[in-house]
Amino acid sequence: MAAAAPDCTLVIFGARGDLAKRLLVPALYNLETAHRLPKAFHIVGVDHGDCDDERLRKDLGAFLRELASDKNSEFGAAKIDARAWSALAKTMRYQKGDFEDAATYAALAKTLGDRSAIFYLAAAPRFFGPIVDQLGKAGLTHEGKGVFRRVVIEKPFGDDLASAKALNTRILKVLGEPQIFRIDHFLGKETVRNIMAVRFANGVFEPLWNRLHVDWVEITAAETVGVEKRGGYYDHAGALRDMTPNHLFQVLAMMAMEPPNSFDPEAVRAEKGRLIEAIAIKTREQALRDSVRGQYTAGTVGRRKMVAYRDSRNVDPKSNTETYVALKLNIDNWRWAGTPFYLRTGKALKARQTQAVIRFKRAPHTLFQALEPAQRPGANSLVVRIQPNEGLSLLFDVKKPGPEELNLAEVGMDFRYAETFGAAPATGYETLLYDCMTGDQTLFKRGQDIEFAWAAVMPFLEAWKGAGEPCFYKAGSEGPAEAERLMIRSGRAWRPLPS
Ligand code: BG6
Repeated sequence: MAAAAPDCTLVIFGARGDLAKRLLVPALYNLETAHRLPKAFHIVGVDHGDCDDERLRKDLGAFLRELASDKNSEFGAAKIDARAWSALAKTMRYQKGDFEDAATYAALAKTLGDRSAIFYLAAAPRFFGPIVDQLGKAGLTHEGKGVFRRVVIEKPFGDDLASAKALNTRILKVLGEPQIFRIDHFLGKETVRNIMAVRFANGVFEPLWNRLHVDWVEITAAETVGVEKRGGYYDHAGALRDMTPNHLFQVLAMMAMEPPNSFDPEAVRAEKGRLIEAIAIKTREQALRDSVRGQYTAGTVGRRKMVAYRDSRNVDPKSNTETYVALKLNIDNWRWAGTPFYLRTGKALKARQTQAVIRFKRAPHTLFQALEPAQRPGANSLVVRIQPNEGLSLLFDVKKPGPEELNLAEVGMDFRYAETFGAAPATGYETLLYDCMTGDQTLFKRGQDIEFAWAAVMPFLEAWKGAGEPCFYKAGSEGPAEAERLMIRSGRAWRPLPS
C-alpha cells in the first residue's frame, strides 16, 4: 500500500456545496479507510452560510450514509465504517466567510499558521479568480521550507478561449505553475489511466495504433441523466463546453498521444499537451459540416419519464442550448494523418456508457467476395469501457460452426475489472486528492493545454452562434439521427449504445 500523504490542511471553499458532499468527502473517507490520509490532517470548510463544526460533520455524515445505501452511486462503500468516519469527522472545522472578503483570509491565515495547505476551489467559477487574488494578498500562497501551498481549480476553467486565457494570466500572477492543480475528474478514473498501460505496456497493441491500421476512433460519453437541477449553469454552458474541451479531450489525449519518454509528470503532460495542440482547427464551414447539436425532448429513459429539456427548471423555454454534441475531428500529426476522431456526448440518452473505441481497418475482402455485404468481415474493434462495466473488449470475426459454407460471426475477448480485480471503492477523486497532497501533477492539466483545447472548440462555438434550433431527439433514444448521418457520410457507423 502506498504511504500516507504528507501532513497538510485541506481548505475547501464551498464546503456545503454539492461537489464537496457528493465527491470530495466520500473520496476523503475512502482515503481514510485506505490509510492514505496524512497523519496530521485537518479540513477547514469555508462557506457563506451559518453552520458550525458539529453541524457540518453531521450533515456530511448523513449524506455519506445516503450514498452508501444507493447502489447506483459511484462511492462504492456499501456501509460506513464508524471508526473511519469518526476519525475523518474529527478533522473537520467550519469557517463562515465570504469568498471576497479579506477577513475570511485573515482568519484562515491564523488557523493555518505555517502549515502546508491545499486550497480546494469547489465554488462557483466566478469566484476562482477572486479567491486566488485574496489568497495571494493574505500571503497564504507563500511556500516556506518544507511547506507547500497548492490550489485546486475545478472546471469549468473559463467558458471560451479568451476567458480561459484571462483566468490563467490572473492566477499565474499569484501562483507558480507547480502550485496549480487544474482538476479534471475523468483523469481520476482508473480506466482512463489504464489506457496508458494498455497502450505502452503491450507489444501487441502499439504497432497497430496509428493511421496505417486504424480506420477511425470514436469516443462516447452517453448519460441517462437529464439536466436535473443544474439548468441555471447548463443552459449557458451546453454539452460542448460542459464535456468536450475537458473530459472528452483528456480521453482523446490518452488514446492518441505519443509515448512519453518516462512517467515523469512533465513528460506525460508534455505529450498530452502536444496532442491537444495538434487537433486541427476548423474553418466555420468545416465546423458546421462536422458537428451536430442536439437537444432532448420529452421521453422515457429506462422507466423514468423525463420532461423536455426546455421544460426543465431554470432553463429558458425557448432555449437552443445543446444537450448533445457529436463532432468529427482530425489530428494534424504524423501518426494520425487521415484518421478521423468522432466524439459524442449527450444527456437523457438510452444508456449510460463512456467508452473509447478503436476501429481497425478491414482485412482485404478478396476471400469473402462471394458473401452478402452484411456477411463480409467487419472492422475489428478494441473497446475501452471507461464506465460502467469497466474493462476492455477486443472484437473480431470467427467462423460460425457448421458444415455449410464459411459464415462469419463477431465475437469478443473480454476483460472486466470487477471480475479480475474485484471492485475497489472509488469516486475518482481519491487519486486526484492524494496526488495533490503528494505534489504529483501528472493527472492535472497545464494552463496552456486548457487553452489549446478551447482553441479547438472555438470554431464550433462561433459557427453555432445564431444557428437556430438544434436537432431534437427523444429522451431515452440514441441521440439525433443527424449524428448517425455524420458517420454514414463516410461509410462509418457509431457503435450502438447498449440496450
Ligand atoms: C461533469 C459535467 O463534469 O461530468 C456533468 O459537468 C457530467 O454534466 C459529469 O454529468 C459526468 O461525469 P461522470 O463521472 O458521471 O461520467
